[in-house]
Amino acid sequence: MERANPESLRADLAHGHSRIIWLMDELDAHLEGLASDPTGAEFIVEAFQAYWTQFSDDLREHIREEEQDLFPLVRLHATDSDLSGLQGLQDEHARLIGDLDAFDVIADSFFAAPKGQNVSLVAKLQNLMESIRVHLVEHSRNERRFLRDVETRIADTCLT
Ligand SMILES: [Fe+2]
Ligand SMILES: [Fe+2]
Repeated sequence: MERANPESLRADLAHGHSRIIWLMDELDAHLEGLASDPTGAEFIVEAFQAYWTQFSDDLREHIREEEQDLFPLVRLHATDSDLSGLQGLQDEHARLIGDLDAFDVIADSFFAAPKGQNVSLVAKLQNLMESIRVHLVEHSRNERRFLRDVETRIADTCLT
């Protein structure tokens, strides 16, 4: 097997979700602004749209990298119990992608609706954002625990 680059593998295993969480906080703040003044300033809508695009792109890319680069490496050294843990993480990824797709549908309607006629969509977006947050926090916790558990074994076999 080709030897892994120790520093990049360690960085992958220790990866965090802090930027994604920060973008989610910005989205919540902008949604709250839109909820309190739904017909308000266009710049809030524009900023919200920019943050949403960044958040959705970053989370999809993060998941894609884990599925394509990190998880195959873990699978090479996995025990049966690791494999079931890994499947659980992949199921959580699929749920998050489903959340992003659902948000995209409502967000598209929100951005397309004439000003003042998109008020009811803000509450829907807030509910969807809350659901994304719950799923992402749960996934972060599970993924961190899983990677911490397998790190020593993988490090022993590929990082020396
Ligand atoms: Fe992750
Ligand atoms: Fe993940």
